[in-house]
Amino acid sequence: ANQLVIAIDGQSSSGKSTLAKAIAKALGLVHIDSGAMYRALTLYAMRYWGDKLTQLSAQELEGWLQTQYAHMQISFVKDPQTQQNQTHLNQELVESEIRTMEVSNRVSKIAQLASVRTFLIDQQRLLAAKGGVVMDGRDIGSNVLPNAQIKLFVTTSIHTRVQRRLEELKITDPNVTYQEVEANLKARDFDDENRSLAPLIQADDAMVIKNEGLTKEEVLEQAMKYIQKAL
Ligand code: C5P
Repeated sequence: ANQLVIAIDGQSSSGKSTLAKAIAKALGLVHIDSGAMYRALTLYAMRYWGDKLTQLSAQELEGWLQTQYAHMQISFVKDPQTQQNQTHLNQELVESEIRTMEVSNRVSKIAQLASVRTFLIDQQRLLAAKGGVVMDGRDIGSNVLPNAQIKLFVTTSIHTRVQRRLEELKITDPNVTYQEVEANLKARDFDDENRSLAPLIQADDAMVIKNEGLTKEEVLEQAMKYIQKAL
């Protein structure tokens, strides 16, 4: 099981990270949330540019980013209490800051930039190179780790995804509304599914996990049955 690589893809808030964490725990794998890397990079740009970020053209942004990649270190550190990976940006814990609506509203535009994808995908492949990893995202099975032994594609209704996101946001953004979250998820779906570079797509060899109406435990059970059969 040490060499095992599992790729999990799906839309925003489909439950892929929750499933990835549960599988990691059950099989003793390291969980890598690739979306957290796009979010941390977005936070880095937001901190530098503030409100001006939205005014930059893609070209200006890419030009600036080229001068910054060498100074941007995104890493995961295991929390000793929860045993879960926490996202760090230049050694600073940013796990909750990267989950705010401000970051969610910007991240998909930044994730479309070619140099951003190259920068992060290289790191994602390195993180998975030794195996023992479950990685979740949008293009993991289709592009980042095409040789993963197991590929899962998680789906849920938009209503459930909004509810789930609202639950998570209650902690950091108590004033956020259903409409706001729904609009953000739909906008990100559109951006993620229609970008030219490695769009969100179900890999041909991915197993679809429908988690609508199921508990976390039931979803894990379904995934584990499939994994055990496939190995
Ligand atoms: O998974 P999460 O919703 O946190 O991802 C945030 C954003 O990062 C996505 O909306 C998408 O634009 C981008 N992303 C990506 N490729 C991945 C993971 C995330 O483009 N593998």
